[in-house]
Amino acid sequence: MNVGLLLHVTILHILWIRFCIGIAAETFPSSSVQSDFPKDPISVEIISVGNIHAASTLASLPYVAPGMSIALEKVQKSFGNSVSFKHTLLYDNQYKTCAVFTDNVDYLVSNYFYSKRTVQYNMTVFIGAGCTERLSMGKLIRGWNSLMMIGGAGETVFRNKKLYPNVVLGGNNAIKSHISSFTRFFARYSWSSIYVLLDSSATPWHLLVVGNLVSGLNSKNIQMKSAKTDIRNPNASGDLAVTLRDIRSSSRVIVFLGFPTEFRAFMLQVRTENMTNGDYVYVVNEPFHHRTYYGNLTWMYGTQRDQEAEQAFKSVFLITSAPETNTHLQTLENELKMRSLRDFNFTYAPDEKVANNTRITTPQFE
Ligand SMILES: *[C@@H]1O[C@H](CO)[C@@H](O)[C@H](O)[C@H]1NC(C)=O
Ligand SMILES: *[C@@H]1O[C@H](CO)[C@@H](O)[C@H](O)[C@H]1NC(C)=O
Ligand SMILES: *[C@@H]1O[C@H](CO)[C@@H](O)[C@H](O)[C@H]1NC(C)=O
Ligand SMILES: *[C@@H]1O[C@H](CO)[C@@H](O)[C@H](O)[C@H]1NC(C)=O
Ligand SMILES: *[C@@H]1O[C@H](CO)[C@@H](O)[C@H](O)[C@H]1NC(C)=O
Ligand SMILES: *[C@@H]1O[C@H](CO)[C@@H](O)[C@H](O)[C@H]1NC(C)=O
Repeated sequence: MNVGLLLHVTILHILWIRFCIGIAAETFPSSSVQSDFPKDPISVEIISVGNIHAASTLASLPYVAPGMSIALEKVQKSFGNSVSFKHTLLYDNQYKTCAVFTDNVDYLVSNYFYSKRTVQYNMTVFIGAGCTERLSMGKLIRGWNSLMMIGGAGETVFRNKKLYPNVVLGGNNAIKSHISSFTRFFARYSWSSIYVLLDSSATPWHLLVVGNLVSGLNSKNIQMKSAKTDIRNPNASGDLAVTLRDIRSSSRVIVFLGFPTEFRAFMLQVRTENMTNGDYVYVVNEPFHHRTYYGNLTWMYGTQRDQEAEQAFKSVFLITSAPETNTHLQTLENELKMRSLRDFNFTYAPDEKVANNTRITTPQFE
């Protein structure tokens, strides 16, 4: 499983940190009641736990920590002398993949918590940047009664507030906002019968979407059917034929959850089946544009079948984040790239844009 796909990017941490600060501000007297305010500043330690190897996941520290440090500098300014922040990056160079990191995160976090900390802070916040290690570290942090902030799509179990009262998920990439995009989209066209195809090429992100989508739509009285496909496997073409027959008899709206290469192959297939004549629509979803992690969602592959694919894609709707219009973005992008290089010796690929992986719009909290 390519774990990097599931919980990726989140320079949203910017906003999480602001959010934690919001909590800190509520917990302690505000600066307007200076007389009651303790003389000593309140100390907050923010511990970002992550993978130091950029290639392991889009949520690795070289990608996300620069955003956190920018945010923290701003927050520190706005709190002046009343709160002092310490930002700790917690990682181990040896853990090169998400799997190894996940296996060792308990040790990493508890060793730091019990043995390495020399100062007692008034408040401790862990940020789980997110490969697959967060459940494990979440259990420890719950026991320590510290706050934990996570971003990305977030593991579903974290939504159980009885189990994880201390975990706050922040981000407009939260699964809830994607499911709500789907439901609003269907409602807008009054589509009441949806067929969901889950391909074997589905990323962990799609797997998370599918469960939430099926239960979310069912509860809205939308008729749902779902089937699995295996577009890569030529031996499964018989199964696909059966599925397409089933679709023809039950729905005109097909949601495809899988990788773009397979989606394009699927669209070419339905085109040969005359299912791109306007009677059917196909819906795909891309949390944000990133070629390495989410593939190249386009008909244009520079192959002989481009023209057919282009025709077929006329029946496709793409649900994705709105383009950024924030004018600070370019400056922020340069700053983030500069810090990635300065702090982590990490250089973005030439066609890799920070801006497109970054959502700096208002996040949702769960
Ligand atoms: C913060 O921690 C310091 C040192 O442990 C302690 O003296 C102080 O009372 C704490 N402040 C608050 C507001 O809890
Ligand atoms: C397809 O079937 C052939 C013959 O049964 C088998 O050798 C091959 O491994 C199968 N391919 C896949 C991708 O399952
Ligand atoms: C699709 O339509 C074309 C022309 O209308 C026809 O020749 C072809 O047999 C149809 N294919 C299928 C799979 O129905
Ligand atoms: C990805 O899509 C772009 C057009 O958006 C195209 O120029 C490029 O060749 C595609 N890359 C691959 C690997 O298909
Ligand atoms: C990034 O986003 C902008 C605006 O949404 C778009 O014009 C541009 O093509 C995107 N770049 C990449 C590499 O995806
Ligand atoms: C920084 O990264 C470059 C490759 O991107 C490498 O050649 C260089 O040795 C690295 N420097 C340090 C100090 O690790």
